[in-house]
Amino acid sequence: MPTLNDLLENNRRWADKINQESPDYFPTLAKQQAPEFLWIGCSDSRVPANDIVGLLPGEVFVHRNVANMVVHTDMNLLSVLQFAVDVLKVKHIIVVGHYGCGGVKAAMGNEKLGLIDNWILEIRDLYYSKSKMFKGLNSDEEKHDLLCELNVVKQVSNLCHTTIIQDAWDRGQTVAVHGWVYGLKDGRVKNLNVTVNDKNQISEFYRLED
Ligand code: CO
Repeated sequence: MPTLNDLLENNRRWADKINQESPDYFPTLAKQQAPEFLWIGCSDSRVPANDIVGLLPGEVFVHRNVANMVVHTDMNLLSVLQFAVDVLKVKHIIVVGHYGCGGVKAAMGNEKLGLIDNWILEIRDLYYSKSKMFKGLNSDEEKHDLLCELNVVKQVSNLCHTTIIQDAWDRGQTVAVHGWVYGLKDGRVKNLNVTVNDKNQISEFYRLED
């Protein structure tokens, strides 16, 4: 296992390498950031946003929490979202779940884990409400994979129902919300093709009008 000193040494090497290759890189970035992407992913250490999609510092705005949740009363998420949409004017918001997610797994079982059980309760609700979809599946892995995907789809919807996204669309801003799932086993991202970029794509029930 690396020590803390190893991390600092790694950092020095990394910064030196970038400074040598492009001396303007850090001074330019220090002045402003203009990322086009907001990544909402899981806190899992195996799902590092920049690395997976080959983006450099400055290219993706990131919010991560356990099980990549979009909870409407989460001030942290809402603040990130509002800043990304209203100020940075990101073009794409990507909810990135991952197969093998411990948060999703916990929501499928009955083991008491503590505070976290409240955080993932929405995933348990989702599992319960979509139980019919799981009937034909044989293995626990298939069920888990499906819930990981359904959770991403749900969080995409949750994003689109916020005032922040709807206000952006109302003023004609271009912003699309996407759902992906990352595979820990192969490092590949699967696009769930649930992109929403227009208010007409969301249920009328959730549309807010002036
Ligand atoms: Co996870």
